Amino acid sequence: MSVKSDDIGYWSELKLEIIRKYATAYSKILAAQKRFEHWYVDAFAGGGVHVSRASRQMVPGSPLNALLIVPPFTEYHLVDLDPEKIESLRTVIGKRSDVHIHPGNCNEVLLREIFPHLTYDDFRRALVLLDPYGLDLRWEVLRTAGHLRTTEVFLNFPTMDMNRNVLWTRLENVKPADIARMTAFWGDDSWRDVAYARQTTLFGDEETIKVAGMESVVKAFRERLENVAGFKHVAEPLPMRNSTRSVLYYLFFASPNDTGDHIVREIFDSYRNRGL
Ligand SMILES: C[S@@+](CC[C@H](N)C(=O)[O-])C[C@H]1O[C@@H](n2cnc3c(N)ncnc32)[C@H](O)[C@@H]1O
Repeated sequence: MSVKSDDIGYWSELKLEIIRKYATAYSKILAAQKRFEHWYVDAFAGGGVHVSRASRQMVPGSPLNALLIVPPFTEYHLVDLDPEKIESLRTVIGKRSDVHIHPGNCNEVLLREIFPHLTYDDFRRALVLLDPYGLDLRWEVLRTAGHLRTTEVFLNFPTMDMNRNVLWTRLENVKPADIARMTAFWGDDSWRDVAYARQTTLFGDEETIKVAGMESVVKAFRERLENVAGFKHVAEPLPMRNSTRSVLYYLFFASPNDTGDHIVREIFDSYRNRGL
């Protein structure tokens, strides 16, 4: 049995800190209510531990952070596609009856094995972390989570993958497979209307040219989470920057719950003002 760790930048350490802060408050509130089971669902769970690029120290990953929270969640559901990460998770966590490790593609595992247990009348609530490297998530997952009205979601909105592979100046130059990944993430191809317009060149040719930046794309996605996925609240997403202040991704939080929304807005604002 072996442990598989990634090196992570300080922006990932901050993300882990933010999620841990909210998960702690969430578990405390839900445990006190006694009416509900509350689950922690980590759909892109990773191997359980990382190495900090800054300190070279081991850093617990998001599933391990969740497991350390007191009071504990009722159940933990951890999903990863990579068999080595799954083996690592099993090594790091050991056998626990409250932990369910799901090898596989979370787009299928969530819809087939996890969300069916989280309907409104099940008296279960869940905090779901969707932390992909890139455009690996399908919109169906977010739409289903929103319509359940039982789940609160943190989402790593993968701007790097979008910028590198999809949102190029001329859409005609983008590979069809990357356009398909963006459409699967977005749920339809309305992202084209947000970011692109048809223009006629000096030579009379028609081209699809980028006319809007990432901020417009992020704003449109926030509106989709509210209006199409049906989340009651979507906090203003938090831009996570590297040392040169480039935005690496946006952290989204979507929730059916007034208290959760209020707490996360406060947490996000406290980090927003720290010059992230
Ligand atoms: C950014 S890492 C997750 C880090 C983790 N959330 C943490 O903070 O400790 C992304 C993980 O998603 C996994 N992954 C990629 N595509 C996936 C998919 N479709 N379903 C489940 N896991 C996937 C990768 O193997 C990788 O371990």
